[in-house]
Amino acid sequence: MSDSIPTRNLALDLARVTEAAALSAGRYMGRGDKEAADRAAVEAMRLVLRSVEMDGIIVIGEGEKDNAPMLYNGERVGNGSKPELDVAVDPIDGTRPLAFGRANSISVVALAPRGTMFNPGPFVYMNKIAVGPEARGKIHIEKSITDNLKSIARAKGKSVEDLTTIILERPRHDDMVAEIRRAGARIRLIPDGDVAAALMTAWPDTGVDVLFGVGGTPEGVITACALRAMGGEIQGKLYARDENEMNRGREMGYDFERVLTMDDLVSSEDVFFAATGITDGELLRGVRYFGDGAATDSLVVRGLTGTVRQIKARHQMDKLHELSNIKY
Ligand code: FBP
Repeated sequence: MSDSIPTRNLALDLARVTEAAALSAGRYMGRGDKEAADRAAVEAMRLVLRSVEMDGIIVIGEGEKDNAPMLYNGERVGNGSKPELDVAVDPIDGTRPLAFGRANSISVVALAPRGTMFNPGPFVYMNKIAVGPEARGKIHIEKSITDNLKSIARAKGKSVEDLTTIILERPRHDDMVAEIRRAGARIRLIPDGDVAAALMTAWPDTGVDVLFGVGGTPEGVITACALRAMGGEIQGKLYARDENEMNRGREMGYDFERVLTMDDLVSSEDVFFAATGITDGELLRGVRYFGDGAATDSLVVRGLTGTVRQIKARHQMDKLHELSNIKY
């Protein structure tokens, strides 16, 4: 055993980043205004990211610079000191559920050493399969849904009928849903939010065993950072919506047939991840506001140690306002 002092756990700093985004965005719950909610989360997240001790470059952000004024891909974040890191942000995963007051909207951030995160370029969708630690190493995205379900059931000592799958409710998943039904597993169809859904597979007592289906590629990379640290697994394959997108990808050197393993999505164990609940969900409670304060629930994970912390915080709004001009 080395007697050197433990290295810094940046995930703890990240909790402040996602808390700020959640506190700002939470005000927009049910107000029907996705843009305003997103703007609030992005502004708050960006301000607090500045204070994190790192030289970060956003790899997974709000989009290209021309469309995204803040937290755009390639933007430098952090206070500029070492370590050099890749940064993935999703100030709100589940903007629609937040705008309409529904469950499982969260704010998330992940960090990994520079050059270790997969850069999806402009390709927005990815087919995914994600599981928790017990079924790690037992899935393969190129096998059928039925074979994967059998293998997961075996790994978990259950029958396929006992398994709960989670999948975004989208017409593109009709065939998948039909196959899951034929195989006999249970299904939770969710309106949005496949980051929280994937994390549920690695979280005790959610009852969720596996995530299937096509969702955002950025969300896939963020999920890989979290599941890697939590001992679970995700695999993906880029998904082209049409021939044009497929051809464009080929020209840019992207291979839609390639299986993206967890290692491909983030190639280092040294990852940090934080999430804060914005609206209530199985994973995290949403923001509660009261008088002069608010309460948040967060989850922070560090890959090197595998430590998962749950952080319940009470925030004093008047004091926060004195310290910064973030609108909570
Ligand atoms: P946003 O909140 O960033 O819009 O993402 C919500 C989400 O449901 C993701 O969790 C998911 O990966 C993606 O959208 C699915 O995309 P689509 O709604 O186009 O099917």
